[in-house]
Amino acid sequence: PLHNLDRRQVLLGGAALLAAPFVLTGRAFAAEGGAALPIPPILEADGAQPVTLTARKGSHAFVPGTQTPTLGYEADYLGPTLRVRRGRTAQIDVVNRTDDVVTAHWHGAHVPGNMDGGPQTAFAPGQTWSARFDVHHPAATLWYHSHVHGKTGPQVYHGLAGLLLVDDPAAPDGLPSDYGVNDIPLVVQDRSFDSSGRLVYDISGMMSLMGGFLGDTICVNGAVRPVADVPRGLVRLRLLNGSNARFYDFTFADGRQFHQVASDGGLLPAPVARNRIALAPAERAEIVVDFSADSAPVRLISSDLAQGGMMGGGMMGGGAGSGGTLDILTFSPGSAQGNAPSALPAALPAPPFDLGAPVRTREFRLDMHAGSMIGSMARRLFGATGSIMGINGNAYDMGRIDAALTLGETELWRVSAPMMVHPFHVHGCSFQVVSRGGQPVDPATEGHKDVVVVDASGVEILVQVNKKADAADPFMLHCHILEHEDAGMMAQFTVT
Ligand code: C2O
Ligand code: CU
Ligand code: CU
Repeated sequence: PLHNLDRRQVLLGGAALLAAPFVLTGRAFAAEGGAALPIPPILEADGAQPVTLTARKGSHAFVPGTQTPTLGYEADYLGPTLRVRRGRTAQIDVVNRTDDVVTAHWHGAHVPGNMDGGPQTAFAPGQTWSARFDVHHPAATLWYHSHVHGKTGPQVYHGLAGLLLVDDPAAPDGLPSDYGVNDIPLVVQDRSFDSSGRLVYDISGMMSLMGGFLGDTICVNGAVRPVADVPRGLVRLRLLNGSNARFYDFTFADGRQFHQVASDGGLLPAPVARNRIALAPAERAEIVVDFSADSAPVRLISSDLAQGGMMGGGMMGGGAGSGGTLDILTFSPGSAQGNAPSALPAALPAPPFDLGAPVRTREFRLDMHAGSMIGSMARRLFGATGSIMGINGNAYDMGRIDAALTLGETELWRVSAPMMVHPFHVHGCSFQVVSRGGQPVDPATEGHKDVVVVDASGVEILVQVNKKADAADPFMLHCHILEHEDAGMMAQFTVT
């Protein structure tokens, strides 16, 4: 199976092409769609007893009538929506019933390094990893996914991902909260299928190696361009860009305004009116849409950025985006009933911005070494070392600690990406974006982040980590284009 591609094959586009056991036959599912939006079941993970989350192989219908071999957590594809409440303890026993090592990383959660589910935590088929962590995180839409070094791309692609929602019973938000009715999770992913319905994960081409894997078929919660029945009224959408490499710029087809109420790490201080929202891989946004006057279907679309549209002035600057639009899903207002608040609250119980002044500055440069790309690939093919993807000149090395942070100290990080745009992610914390391209950023509209889009002009973020991570279980910082991460655009840090 493709998810068992070994690390060298994932790294080596050319070798993967020779070894890949599939024939790419094109857009079998690209014209399909219209099934009901699947809603992942809730799994309450903060009770007195641990819950079980079994990573396993499955068979899933992305379009009705065709079964696709997949991976999932406690499901054929993707996983349940884990829900935990602030102030309680999460107890999750992750069981591995796949054919390969896996992890479960709690993306965005503030948990200690040994509970973070990073690459060091990879565990073998037949084993169980017991995650136990106190929930200190404010209310937020987080997620979880496998994080095995060199295999995160194919494992997430085949389905090892799900949502992790944090509720804060002490801070009611006044927003629609009837899960699956007017509080709807939307995991947006691009996939490609061969003519027999098997998932295709082909990173053999230079564009895939450079820009990451792009699928030709958009899926939401594991269904191709589905239809969501929603009540007439206010509806909260929890959007996760769960794609390996694709950037989205979501709008409604009719251009309507909506309100963003949360970003990666929690609520914004007040709803922000928008009519588009861009999400890079792994970013989340909660938006509230008013369907009270709708009697016809409402479509959510995205401009087709691929990655090319997001690329800066480097060698990829010509852009590979088609300039067209992608259909994401359709809402059918009035086909469901629900009790929603009739108006948006004017203010929201957002976490405070109180990181204080930084005591230290660090620089991180996301490198591609594209000038020597062919040479690097050749060196790798013949076994010599040579980095294609890295940070500050180094490809990821599980045995090397790249930075040592002090618990609770605030640092200013300057992050830049000379070659192309990358979504930069930090474990163990939410950070505050201070500036982008030298221009100050308004924290009230940006919120608390754990992924930020970085280009050649750079971003500055304030980072404060309040969870410990030692050298045996350090935190990661990396590009969340999963093919870049797998190829080495990742580093690791301790917090003591
Ligand atoms: Cu979403 Cu290091 O991960
Ligand atoms: Cu993470
Ligand atoms: Cu990248």
